[in-house]
Amino acid sequence: MIQNVFVIGATGKVGSAAVKQILDKDVDPVKHDNPTRIAGVASSESYLFSPNGLGRQECLDFAEKKAGSNSGGRQYGDLLELLQVVSKAGIGVVFVDATALHDLKFHKAVSQAKGLGMVTANKLPLVDCSFAEFEELTHSPSSYGYRCSVMAGAESVSLLQDLRDVSDPIHSLSGCFSGTLGFICTQLSKERKLSEIVVEAKEKGYTEPHPRDDLNGMDVSRKLLILARTAGFNVSMGDVALSPFIPEKYFGEEDPRAFADSLKELDEEFLQRIRQAKESGLVLRYVAQLNVAGGKPSLSVSLKEVPKDGPLGSLNGTSNKITVISGAYPANSPYVVEAPGAGLEVTAQNIRRDLLAQLQGRKIL
Ligand SMILES: NC(=O)c1ccc[n+]([C@@H]2O[C@H](COP(=O)([O-])OP(=O)(O)OC[C@H]3O[C@@H](n4cnc5c(N)ncnc54)[C@H](OP(=O)(O)O)[C@@H]3O)[C@@H](O)[C@H]2O)c1
Repeated sequence: MIQNVFVIGATGKVGSAAVKQILDKDVDPVKHDNPTRIAGVASSESYLFSPNGLGRQECLDFAEKKAGSNSGGRQYGDLLELLQVVSKAGIGVVFVDATALHDLKFHKAVSQAKGLGMVTANKLPLVDCSFAEFEELTHSPSSYGYRCSVMAGAESVSLLQDLRDVSDPIHSLSGCFSGTLGFICTQLSKERKLSEIVVEAKEKGYTEPHPRDDLNGMDVSRKLLILARTAGFNVSMGDVALSPFIPEKYFGEEDPRAFADSLKELDEEFLQRIRQAKESGLVLRYVAQLNVAGGKPSLSVSLKEVPKDGPLGSLNGTSNKITVISGAYPANSPYVVEAPGAGLEVTAQNIRRDLLAQLQGRKIL
């Protein structure tokens, strides 16, 4: 059986990488007994859709925006309009959300429709909602995949889904979920200045367009919330005790350059903190933590001194890591996953792994 896929955000970094990988690797009916076919692609302005599948070249041209500013497609209003177009065609389709839209309505509508599925790299709909809505969206892994919302799709979401399903109680979870802040922490350990490291991270493309959006800890908090909810805890953003990487007073500066410049005021303080930590065999890491006591979860995100040779202290550069302690995995032998926390090819591949999970009658040839 063919799997029809509609990539939303196909002109973006992740979406276009996913389009190319699917075309290069998943459309071969000899290799794949049930191949994936691209039936639709959309950008912010336009879309292409064919119930019989789009041609390889038109997908590539669209993803690379070769056909002019409207990418050669039809104009559309919002994602619910696209959903109507697909529903009218009467075929099964899995949508891939590779945007950064706050579009919970679209996710809800897809998850409630018969024969449609969702694979999302976009974490925002999963945190913009109540726990009940989250449960409604995600209760069926065979039609809603969101592994790429955390650790670029490495085993964190799927691990917690499985532990929950086999009734293995989570005692704690700790992790470093920001490649950008991992890079900054590793560089700080070399006794470099924070302000210079932030400029370098931005130049290397590791930060968001405004580095404030990494340093405020919101992205890490969202990932922790998704994992806690996946583990079955009824929590919301307000339950995360968030300490930003740097004091909030710096976040008012709208110009990224002036923002990086203002961080010079913090250089000496960070150097002192790093040196003091070193004397005790510690390093700084931006840690997301879920602790469960008496069945009640507590969530925190903060900059911490951790043992240099410990699971999080030994992390290097942009890598992410999660350590889970549960009934079956006690503190002396936790379940640990370390993997790149970002990267277009890795994320695109993990989108395809979520697509595999929605294949009916999947066969490995
Ligand atoms: N980068 C990573 O390594 C990574 C890893 C895991 C998850 N993610 C997540 O993946 C998502 C995409 O990231 P990205 O770096 O690929 O972003 P990006 O390059 O900015 O791409 C965003 C895409 O969304 C489209 N878009 C914007 N507004 C839209 C609208 N109103 N309706 C429909 N489409 C719209 C854009 O279309 P236009 O071309 O027309 O603007 C573009 O195709 C984000 O949620 C991100 O957090 C990224």
